[in-house]
Amino acid sequence: EKGGYEHFMLKEINEQPRSIADCMRGRLDAKNGRLVLGGLRDYMNKFQNADRIIITACGTSWHAGLVAEYLFEEFARIPVEVEYASEFRYRNPVISEKDFVIAISQSGETADTLAAIELAKSKGATIFGVCNVVGSSIPRATHAGSYTHAGPEIGVASTKAFTAQISVLTMMALKLGYQRGTLSETRYMHLLNELATIPSKVERALKLDSKVKAIAAEYKDSRNFLYLGRGYNFPVALEGALKLKEISYIHAEGYPAAEMKHGPIALIDQEMPVVFIATKDSSYEKVVSNIQEVKARKGKIIAVVTEGDTTVRGLADHVIEIPETEEAFVPLIAVVPLQQLSYHIAVMRGCNVDQPRNLAKSVTVE
Ligand code: F6R
Repeated sequence: EKGGYEHFMLKEINEQPRSIADCMRGRLDAKNGRLVLGGLRDYMNKFQNADRIIITACGTSWHAGLVAEYLFEEFARIPVEVEYASEFRYRNPVISEKDFVIAISQSGETADTLAAIELAKSKGATIFGVCNVVGSSIPRATHAGSYTHAGPEIGVASTKAFTAQISVLTMMALKLGYQRGTLSETRYMHLLNELATIPSKVERALKLDSKVKAIAAEYKDSRNFLYLGRGYNFPVALEGALKLKEISYIHAEGYPAAEMKHGPIALIDQEMPVVFIATKDSSYEKVVSNIQEVKARKGKIIAVVTEGDTTVRGLADHVIEIPETEEAFVPLIAVVPLQQLSYHIAVMRGCNVDQPRNLAKSVTVE
């Protein structure tokens, strides 16, 4: 049932080209410029005219929500708030009928997310679910939704569900931007066509496995890791750190790269590996200066870069080159080597990768 893989997590990491394609199948028809999300059809008016989008989730799903914040604001120009369900539900938040709430959950059973939905529903908001498990509690509690269709995720550490969540949210953002006229026809068409290439680019990124494994061997005994990225790659940094923590039990923190100088920089010495997501995008130059700051303090630099990058190669101890894509779609590719890195480190440390201590696949208690 592990399809020849040693662990479910590894199988699920490797399934991503297919799970992302499955998620887009029947929805994205790039050639003809069509994007259809069945669940959205009856609620498109509400979505388009929303004053605000509130995204609520926990853990990895919350990270997918952060990526979506950038997507919705860039493409559709609607203000977005991303809320930990556990905080949102107890804070007496301001919610109205003009809010469009998106709840993201792999399992569809997370207690806090479910409670956040009930609260928002009681205030008259429209609730849309982005879930993986068909027929679970959250899809039943929402007004509408789109399934991620990633297939069963058995490993406790979420991998293919995360990229499928981002895929659905990306399609939603593009559709919304197009309908609202904040995305031009040409740009929309270009983005749809680029989105359609993501499964094959993820396939290419998966081939970096042996390189990533060699890096894992070198850093498996580190006691701490820092993950840094900016813009769309900031949530990727958070997700990379979470993956490492939960399965290898190494302390890791993700930060927006620019926040480094407001505290975490004090931690950097030759014992501290720092993983940068430094792809060629609008914040590239700034990330390069952050890399220089770490290098000056003798931190060890592992950088995820765009294929062909030479600048970072000259600075970093290790580079992992991923295929180029639109800035907004980079998380779908950049997260892959970070999943592999945490997987290999955890295996090398003898950890139970599929069932890490103290964690459950669905958190049905608050
Ligand atoms: C991390 C992980 C958890 C879940 C979180 C939310 O790998 O699996 O952080 O993402 O418990 O779970 P769902 O998405 O099922 O609501």
